[in-house]
Amino acid sequence: MTKVLAINGSARMEKGNTAMVLTPFLQSMEKEGATVEVVYAKKLKIRPCMGDFQCWFDKVGECIHTDDMQILFPKMKEADILVLATPVYLPLPGEFQNLLNRLMPICEPILEFRNGRTRAKFHDDVNISKIVLVATGGWWEKGNLDTVLHIAKEIAENGGVEFAGALLRPHAFLMNEFEEKALAVVDAIKMAGKQLIKQGKMNTDVLESISQPLIAEADLRERYNRNYERAKKASS
Ligand SMILES: Cc1cc2nc3c(=O)[nH]c(=O)nc-3n(C[C@H](O)[C@H](O)[C@H](O)COP(=O)(O)O)c2cc1C
Repeated sequence: MTKVLAINGSARMEKGNTAMVLTPFLQSMEKEGATVEVVYAKKLKIRPCMGDFQCWFDKVGECIHTDDMQILFPKMKEADILVLATPVYLPLPGEFQNLLNRLMPICEPILEFRNGRTRAKFHDDVNISKIVLVATGGWWEKGNLDTVLHIAKEIAENGGVEFAGALLRPHAFLMNEFEEKALAVVDAIKMAGKQLIKQGKMNTDVLESISQPLIAEADLRERYNRNYERAKKASS
């Protein structure tokens, strides 16, 4: 049975836009027989990485800190698929970045040169074979999610595992308003989850459908700017 671990980095956790995309994705994987678990970075007490490389060069695989990463490490080692879920915060919410920095102990301190880049890889006791990104943004373009996409791909490369694709949802908050289009998006999200478990990969057209525009660019920009004008007037 495939084990899926999702780490949701949203500061708004269960109520956030990121959860709005992540939840149907996980539900569809569960429906296909996977076991799924979500952890919220914000709920965990995780201290910042000290950067002293003790986990690499002193006590290999052991972090100097004793905190909630001790709960997360075993879950990460057991998972087959790791889903990194986050909003774009130029680039990431602090708690999530903090958690990602603390992944050093699950990486082997042996550097390899792969495809023209210096890379590490996960320790052999880490089961993860695929990493998937779920990311949401507030602005119109999918391109606003490029930095986060790049980070997720780098994490997969540095773990020596497959980056299995990204569910990217720009202007995600509008899913609450444009219900008909949102239904098509949710259907595509569910399809992506089903494909990931059944075929081990998600089709490009399905992922593109998840990112489909819900509104014209100029209309979204006008809304933001109107809200700002209103707020300015109210506070003057
Ligand atoms: C500090 C901060 C920075 C943000 N930067 C961007 C950005 O660069 N591009 C973008 O599309 N959205 C940006 N957003 C909007 C969020 O990514 C978006 O509202 C997201 O869907 C929130 O997800 P959540 O409800 O799960 O937290 C930013 C939001 C915050 C609070």
